[in-house]
Amino acid sequence: MITCVGVGPGDLSYITRKGAELIHSAEVVAGFDSVLNMVAPLISSSAEVFRMTYRDQVEQMARVAEAHHNGKTCVVAFMGDIHFSGFQLLERVESACGHAVETVPGISSAQVLASRARVCFDETSFITFHRRGDLEPFKRHLLSALRDGRNAIVIPHPWDFMPHAIGSHLVQNGASPEHSVEVWENLTQRQSQWQGRLDSVPDTFSDMSIMLIRHRQPSSCYQTVTMEKSTK
Ligand SMILES: C[S@@+](CC[C@H](N)C(=O)[O-])C[C@H]1O[C@@H](n2cnc3c(N)ncnc32)[C@H](O)[C@@H]1O
Repeated sequence: MITCVGVGPGDLSYITRKGAELIHSAEVVAGFDSVLNMVAPLISSSAEVFRMTYRDQVEQMARVAEAHHNGKTCVVAFMGDIHFSGFQLLERVESACGHAVETVPGISSAQVLASRARVCFDETSFITFHRRGDLEPFKRHLLSALRDGRNAIVIPHPWDFMPHAIGSHLVQNGASPEHSVEVWENLTQRQSQWQGRLDSVPDTFSDMSIMLIRHRQPSSCYQTVTMEKSTK
């Protein structure tokens, strides 16, 4: 049995009870280092842990698939929610197993951002550049979402299409430099936030950052809430 579990944005109080139970009872837990470190307190001391890197993920997935086919209870831990910027990894798991696997959703960094920044999902497009392959269709989609008057929640591509490069690209391709932008780092953990215009996004953010490009200026009421929260 193998299950892919979204473990939430970092702080373990955001993991679902279902996800925590699956990890705690698993005989094999696999994932990238950063994700396994988040869930380390939940992993049983008798569990086998398969740590993946971008380079060896195919080999590690083959080991997990073998354990699964040998009847072990396996969990592959995903950052945030599987359904935002997680499908390429899910496809790798399924290709190693040779069949579709069960998924358990988690709370995405996009959801925490939407809550902190008070944006409505209905008026927002979600775009990730944190993926392999051609980014051009996603760049076009982002421009057209802004043209259509939508907000955008954007996951950058480390390290060549980070928030500064995204802002410059959009302005060079016709987006208004006046869009209000927020970049949030390490949501739920050592959280910090930057707010400014599309044409002035700094190039100082880490790979644990997520970007909000607003269609409209936030209300003054929202800015008060942000200032209160920006210290945690
Ligand atoms: C491969 S994507 C996976 C996103 C994940 N599936 C989700 O739902 O949040 C990884 C990227 O998501 C963003 N991210 C994930 N957790 C974050 C957090 N707690 N704070 C800020 N950004 C985060 C970062 O840009 C990170 O490099």
